[in-house]
Amino acid sequence: MSTLIVANWKMNANKTQLVQFCEALNMYYSRDNPHIHSALLPPFPYLERAHEMLYHPQCHTGGQDCAPQKSGAFTGDVSASMIRDCGGHYVIVGHSERRLLHHEDDATLTNKIICALNADVVPIFCFGESESDMKQQRSYAVCKRQIEGVFHHPSLKEMSIFKIIFAYEPVWAIGTGLTPKAEDVNALLMQVAAFISDTMPMIAQYQFLYGGSVSADNFEDFIVQPLIHGALVGGASLKAETFIPLLEIAARHKPKA
Ligand code: PGA
Repeated sequence: MSTLIVANWKMNANKTQLVQFCEALNMYYSRDNPHIHSALLPPFPYLERAHEMLYHPQCHTGGQDCAPQKSGAFTGDVSASMIRDCGGHYVIVGHSERRLLHHEDDATLTNKIICALNADVVPIFCFGESESDMKQQRSYAVCKRQIEGVFHHPSLKEMSIFKIIFAYEPVWAIGTGLTPKAEDVNALLMQVAAFISDTMPMIAQYQFLYGGSVSADNFEDFIVQPLIHGALVGGASLKAETFIPLLEIAARHKPKA
């Protein structure tokens, strides 16, 4: 399975920065021809431009969110099929910022995943515990509940999911400079993987990303873990100078089976 590094720009950057970033990424891919895949998820107004600029077949684009409906009178929302139409290949579903700030619940996230799959967009489903859950040693219980709450819905269980990405993002690690120990993340993902294979036969293929304060200083520790196939990156993805080193680190390691 290929390694994937995802740039989640959140509500940051502008057109000039987008062009500079894409040019730098194109140059890196044509120079080093790495085996890894990357995806830029800019704010929606920049998605199509990013898709047009990033011509290397391993450089993808996507959305940071999609609507839980197919289409209709939902002012301000963007559908998964619009993301696909603009060249997007991925969409984040259930980022903790959306769960917290936009009060997204399990049923909403189930519908977003269904919309993404129906539009041929690969969902990047985020899950992760809060600081107090972590302190009470409830990390796995919370992660399991978040996954179960969304994927055990009958309408999702009936679908056949060709490919999905699970991004483990402990809320206390996002944008804080704090990270969990990479070995602890791998141990938690082992439990999650067992839960997925025991209870979610509709998923044909999935991979895990780690997200939360990923930088060139800590990424090597994560990417050497057997179950971590890449990263979901916020702050360090905003500039090519801090994002490309992550691709270089990943490229030094063989993709995992
Ligand atoms: P961060 O954000 O890398 O800035 O911690 C990660 C994310 O929110 O996806």
